[in-house]
Amino acid sequence: MDTSALRAKFLGAAAAASDEAALEEVRLAALGKKGEISALMATLGKMEPEERKAAGATLNILRDEIDAALRAKKAALSDAALDARLKSEWLDVTMPARPRRMGTIHPVSQVMEELTAIFADMGFAVAEGPQVETDWYNFDALNIPPEHPARQEHDTFFMHRADGDDRPPHVLRTHTSPVQIRAMTEKGAPIRVIAPGRVYRMDMDQTHTPMFHQIEGLAIDKDISMANLKWVIEEFAKAFFEVPSVEVRFRASHFPFTEPSAEIDFRCSWVGGQLRLGEGDSWLEAGGCGMVHPKVLRAAGIDPDQYQGFAFGLGIDRLAMLKYGIPDLRAFFEGDLRWLRHYGFAALDMPDLAGGLSA
Ligand code: DAH
Repeated sequence: MDTSALRAKFLGAAAAASDEAALEEVRLAALGKKGEISALMATLGKMEPEERKAAGATLNILRDEIDAALRAKKAALSDAALDARLKSEWLDVTMPARPRRMGTIHPVSQVMEELTAIFADMGFAVAEGPQVETDWYNFDALNIPPEHPARQEHDTFFMHRADGDDRPPHVLRTHTSPVQIRAMTEKGAPIRVIAPGRVYRMDMDQTHTPMFHQIEGLAIDKDISMANLKWVIEEFAKAFFEVPSVEVRFRASHFPFTEPSAEIDFRCSWVGGQLRLGEGDSWLEAGGCGMVHPKVLRAAGIDPDQYQGFAFGLGIDRLAMLKYGIPDLRAFFEGDLRWLRHYGFAALDMPDLAGGLSA
């Protein structure tokens, strides 16, 4: 039996099929129930045994060959279909997003990111603590015992205990300083952390809101001095306000958790109601700082005979107002969309030192 013409015909047709439907037609015409190869197979039964044996073998080989060609072509067609789809559904994931649809970043969040970037560059990690705090972390561990006058100055919000429960009440933390204790207790010394976050005091006027934001800084090691503290604050001020130099003044002060203690002032001038940092005859109060009190180290399980270090606390909202010229603190927390759109930042502009903080 000579099957070369059939072979050429079907292999050619399979190769020429341009889609899966055309390929299926070729399969039916050759190998389907009414296909030509199947029809020839049906004639085998009427043949003499010798002839049947030879013809059967030839037809089996031909059938397998066509079947293989059809499968190969099918695979090639589906690869080509996938390629075409990938080309037509191509998406440039590096295109900038459409930030307006995503709302804006609040100036406080933006400034927190900026602070994190600046202090990360100086080797500070970010630490966190709860906003509902025990009075031990908020006061006692920071060397503010119950009868200490500093407790009154903090205008603390207390959380009610259940009737009959006479343990001291929890408080809404009045500063980020308790995070110092938590970080030292958890990580030990040496340690270098910042802790930005919300704090609460019962106070409300043009420059005070009952909730506001602070950033705490803490660096403990064997040979840390007040000079390191001053350098860190100066570097921070230059980086944050994006100016080549800022004169920093330490004014002697008192905090129970530091000894010695200082208030931090930046040299500035007011020109036509506009603040200029680093020049002029005025001083801007930025926060408090000092060398961590030995009692505070001890409360956090660190040996003050081996370790010492500095801490500082700055008001974040104030930093945001100064840097971005925002006049009224209360507007920060009113959720007015017009204000948020005006003072907010594009959602995908993450501050980093290399790119220019607020650029
Ligand atoms: N916790 C102080 C406050 O809220 C600020 C402060 C002052 C923090 C001196 C410090 C520090 O870490 O050393 O008023």
